[in-house]
Amino acid sequence: MLLDIRNKFRMLAVVVLLAGGTMPVAHADDDDDERMPVATNALWQAECGSCHLAYPPRLLPAESWQELMTGLDKHFGSDASLDAPSAREIGAFLDKNAGRNRHSKPGKPVLRITETRWFVHEHDEVSADVWKNPKVKSAANCAACHTGAETGNYSERSIKIPR
Ligand code: HEC
Ligand code: HEC
Repeated sequence: MLLDIRNKFRMLAVVVLLAGGTMPVAHADDDDDERMPVATNALWQAECGSCHLAYPPRLLPAESWQELMTGLDKHFGSDASLDAPSAREIGAFLDKNAGRNRHSKPGKPVLRITETRWFVHEHDEVSADVWKNPKVKSAANCAACHTGAETGNYSERSIKIPR
């Protein structure tokens, strides 16, 4: 009788194990955008990737890109001016691939990815010491920690915090 029950438990355990083994493992912190294909454009890559890496368009809403593209001569203390046809092509590319679910507050759109609520929230576990590390320099220096940033890969698996 007792042996019987024990065998039943063992059977149950095996069934549970098998079921668990074939079930897809859910990721706890899936950012919907992470599964979107990475948008690229050769002119954008060349022009907007020359001083820093070319920031993925999906990380800012369209109104932010529009505002940024109208002030390229005074771009965070740099002159990033473009000729009109290039500005038009890059502007259209950014617009088309801008983040749809990144809402900006009414008023002046945020120009820095690093100042969006989304970014601050996603990085709130990064300690002050890490941000101050000279190997990081600026939060805008995504590639300091995201080893796949150059190809638009920001997945958690490719994060390596410099020491
Ligand atoms: C002449 C150099 C230069 C060029 C060209 C340039 N940028 Fe920048 N960009 C900068 C500098 C400098 C910063 C400030 C970086 C920092 O704070 O660490 C910056 C910052 C940014 C930021 C904010 C990053 C953040 O979240 O803090 C965005 C977005 C950006 N650039 C987009 C663009 C786009 C789009 C283009 C192409 C149209 C472009 N940049 C071309 C120099 C340049
Ligand atoms: C100092 C290191 C560091 C820098 C610099 C940095 N990040 Fe991160 N990033 C992290 C860490 C750590 C996480 C959180 C991983 C977690 O616990 O979910 C993260 C998370 C993310 C995520 C979400 C990943 C996911 O799959 O959930 C994105 C997207 C991202 N960062 C983009 C950027 C962008 C864009 C920049 C530059 C503008 C940047 N990060 C700069 C360290 C950094």
